[in-house]
Amino acid sequence: MTPVELVRDPHQRAARDQIAVRRARLADVGGIVALVGEWAAESLLLPRTAAQVARAVDDYCVAVDVRGRVLACAAVREYSPSLAELVSVAVSRAAHGRGLGRLVVHAAESLAAVRGHAAVFAHTLQPEFFAALGYERADRAAYPEKRARPHTLCVRRALAADASELAAAA
Ligand SMILES: CC(C)(COP(=O)(O)OP(=O)(O)OC[C@H]1O[C@@H](n2cnc3c(N)ncnc32)[C@H](O)[C@@H]1OP(=O)(O)O)[C@@H](O)C(=O)NCCC(=O)NCCS
Repeated sequence: MTPVELVRDPHQRAARDQIAVRRARLADVGGIVALVGEWAAESLLLPRTAAQVARAVDDYCVAVDVRGRVLACAAVREYSPSLAELVSVAVSRAAHGRGLGRLVVHAAESLAAVRGHAAVFAHTLQPEFFAALGYERADRAAYPEKRARPHTLCVRRALAADASELAAAA
């Protein structure tokens, strides 16, 4: 194993690979739509149109490579003043397992904290991924206004304890 492969911290690894994690811009819309569409085709995410993403571009965080290609994304959607939903969490297949999912979710949590939300939740087919990020199973009945697909599981994470750290990272 080379020393490079020993870099386990996802922030250090992204820096080494010259990957930037940041708020999305209009120039990222096509990349986000393509990335989400890749997983929507496998019924893991709901598809998004370019118009939908462009309208909500301020809600998205992305990881991009040096050429500006979108490798990962995650978005925050307000559910109530204290609660936000994480949606469109996706990492390009070729970039899996490098910590980018963790980094874009963390960026989206930071955005939620900056907006004053105390917790985030998600409906997902990948609860183990969210468990690795500190999420707990939640009762989907707690979110009656969310129309989720019946086979997804609901996960939730409180942001209050580290809100200032998250806000500083946004
Ligand atoms: C789920 C997904 C976002 C994970 O992205 P990723 O970049 O490969 O994940 P990371 O490398 O950041 O992994 C973070 C942690 O989650 C764990 N993890 C990731 N995917 C996992 C899975 N499917 N099952 C169990 N654990 C998983 C990793 O082992 C890692 O744990 P560690 O930090 O303790 O080692 C990615 O596989 C994806 O885009 N899937 C298709 C779309 C999807 O299902 N999105 C989520 C639905 S809301």
